[in-house]
Amino acid sequence: MLATCQTNKRPHYVIAGVPSNIKNFSTFVETSVSDKNFERIYVQGGLNVKPLAVEKIDLDEGVAKDQEDRIKVENPENESVKVGKEESEVEKEAWRLLRNAVVTYCGSPVGTVAANDPNDKLPLNYDQVFIRDFVPSAFAFLLKGEGEIVRNFLLHTLQLQSWEKTVDCYSPGQGLMPASFKVRTVALDDNKFEEVLDPDFGESAIGRVAPVDSGLWWIILLRAYGKLTGDYALQERVDVQTGIKLILNLCLSDGFDMFPSLLVTDGSCMIDRRMGIHGHPLEIQALFYSALRCSREMLALDDGSKNLVRAVNNRLSALSFHIREYYWVDLKKINEIYRYKTEEYSTEATNKFNIYPEQISGWLMHWIPEEGGYFIGNLQPAHMDFRFFTLGNLWSIVSSLGTPKQNEGILNLIEAKWDDLIGQMPLKICYPALESEEWRIITGSDPKNTPWSYHNGGSWPTLLWQMGRNDLAKKAIDSAEKRLHVDRWPEYYDTRNGKFIGKQARLYQTWSIAGFLTSKMLLENQEMASLLFWEEDYDLLENCVCALSNSSRKKCSRRLAKSQILV
Ligand code: GLC
Repeated sequence: MLATCQTNKRPHYVIAGVPSNIKNFSTFVETSVSDKNFERIYVQGGLNVKPLAVEKIDLDEGVAKDQEDRIKVENPENESVKVGKEESEVEKEAWRLLRNAVVTYCGSPVGTVAANDPNDKLPLNYDQVFIRDFVPSAFAFLLKGEGEIVRNFLLHTLQLQSWEKTVDCYSPGQGLMPASFKVRTVALDDNKFEEVLDPDFGESAIGRVAPVDSGLWWIILLRAYGKLTGDYALQERVDVQTGIKLILNLCLSDGFDMFPSLLVTDGSCMIDRRMGIHGHPLEIQALFYSALRCSREMLALDDGSKNLVRAVNNRLSALSFHIREYYWVDLKKINEIYRYKTEEYSTEATNKFNIYPEQISGWLMHWIPEEGGYFIGNLQPAHMDFRFFTLGNLWSIVSSLGTPKQNEGILNLIEAKWDDLIGQMPLKICYPALESEEWRIITGSDPKNTPWSYHNGGSWPTLLWQMGRNDLAKKAIDSAEKRLHVDRWPEYYDTRNGKFIGKQARLYQTWSIAGFLTSKMLLENQEMASLLFWEEDYDLLENCVCALSNSSRKKCSRRLAKSQILV
């Protein structure tokens, strides 16, 4: 049996003697500063239009070359990662399982399957490499000094970007990254076989959900790869720069929306089923903010990118102001909302979103602690989703989307509400669960998302690594370590305090395993951890206040910025 390797993707063409595919943009990207406030990328021929092809090339030259040139990525500065203390038996088992989950394409590692339970006879799409699920695996490998799999993953998923797939004859936007991909073996003539990468943009996914978070995670991982390996050449490549720009263009394109936050459909992130998170969910906003900060660091500054960089900066300022100001709740703020006047018509309104005080749920009045606070799950006209969503709040800390005081407030709240959010197995995906009528209407009577199960208040060990380097993380990891391996690394846990293995949880779930390893390594390598997290950016604050003050003709100053934005 002979396996040849070929990427099942957009074909490559030679136009006027210049080898190209749509991804090799150097000769085909034209930029134009139009009436938009950022650069647009035009790809000659468009995505679904066959270019003026004269010759087809079978091999993906870019990738073939990459594989030839593949470097053993090691950052001399990061030697400390590999020393450190002796691994425990649980860690050793986790590493063995993680390595078993590795997927290869043409003989090279390119990702990890979502779950790897040998007894699972119906894996659905859990035998695929999910973009979001691979992130903790990637961090584990990077922190171990093994960059190759991450580099391959970044380059191969880049090739899948905007594959010509359709849902009801409609193609996904250019720049969209798939939710997942699978390596398939396809039979050719003469007993030969070839491997192909087959992406899923949501057209096969349950509920046909659009993976908005994939591109954001891809950018975040690209930056982390550079930081942890020292191989910055990857992010400087023309095709990689173009990949970043395509994702940004998709996120920054104009629509009908009035807010700087990203407007998305339900189920467009880790919670990939209907859970009432359409609109402007915190998780997407926090990842968006992180991806913008990463992009600002990585985009090569030249005439072609300056408008895009300006748009990124403006959006960063506006987004952080918006989230800090309107998503934050603590005891004081809830008390303000409790006394809100409604139906205010003017630009000066206090209750800008016309929130009716009756909306403050009974649970929240009792639950909100004296100390600390958090960012709410979503904000729409006349609607604040007061549920606590863990990933969004943790990424607000990681990316400094929140002010230093707010970030500390979130940690205080987690500590004060330990039994609710950590319980017997860290961490609750959201709190509280939707019950009764709310469950029926909001989830559409989803039997997988019954109260305190799965996305509806289940506990997900993979969230652990996103607690980063804080002291609470250690306590949470210690409690997880005792159970995870005994329970065979479940995907999630059920019940109010995470006592039971999830009703339909997969076992040997890769991101539970990788999340555990990554969180341990981040704790042990504080220096590495700090490379991955962001501090407050005062320039952004200054921008933000400048924009606000222009109308009132206030003079901009850094001090003014700091004092105005809830520091
Ligand atoms: C479930 C999760 C999703 C994850 C996928 C693969 O669909 O909701 O976040 O990416 O499983 O593990």
